[in-house]
Amino acid sequence: MRLPTIVVNCKTYPEALGKRGWDLSGRLAAVAQETGASVVLAPPASDLAHVAKLVRIPVFAQHVDAVTPGPTTGWLPPESLLEAGAAGTLINHSERKVAWEEMATSVPRCRELGLEVIACADDIVEAETLAKLSPDYIAIEPPELIGGDISVTTANPEIVSGAVERIRAVNPNVGVLCGAGVKSRKDVAKALELGTVGVLLASGVVKAKDPEAALRDLVKGLPGGRPRARTR
Ligand code: G3P
Repeated sequence: MRLPTIVVNCKTYPEALGKRGWDLSGRLAAVAQETGASVVLAPPASDLAHVAKLVRIPVFAQHVDAVTPGPTTGWLPPESLLEAGAAGTLINHSERKVAWEEMATSVPRCRELGLEVIACADDIVEAETLAKLSPDYIAIEPPELIGGDISVTTANPEIVSGAVERIRAVNPNVGVLCGAGVKSRKDVAKALELGTVGVLLASGVVKAKDPEAALRDLVKGLPGGRPRARTR
């Protein structure tokens, strides 16, 4: 993905399911194209393949399992995400926690396959631990602020700057995102000022009365997409 970025996690909000979700994804992708901003969509698993075909911006899965393709009914091996057209995946979101041993298998496996990984952390200690697995990105998201109206960048800027500092110390190749309550261009600009390379958000766009207008406002907090200098 290009950085700085806005990652929209659609969760399984009704607005993001099936035809409503396809329509929403198309409209959000159009805003990304029209503004030139780096926007990533993470649709529900059931719509991943369809959305990936529909839009020309990166599409991420919301979760991946540490299994290989085969007799693994109902699981999501990394290969299935690739086949569906995903460019990457979230993992360990606070609403879908994953055991450390599983991430120790799936994170490197995804990266070998060329899937970018955004590992989510609830706090600085978890972020520091996750950095040892070398995901491409770590998103710091305090669970108590998720879905709320106060952005983590206002309610707890120290957790963002603290995570940036600790992650850099452990593994400087890992980019840091932050999320929870991010709703406006001001929140995005503050996130970047705190040392992140972007934001991970959901309700600010998906549950907005006018999701396109909400995204248009958010991208104004970005200084303008620029390609990331990869260090690996
Ligand atoms: O993954 C994004 C997230 O959990 C934050 O949700 O609704 O606070 O933007 P929200």
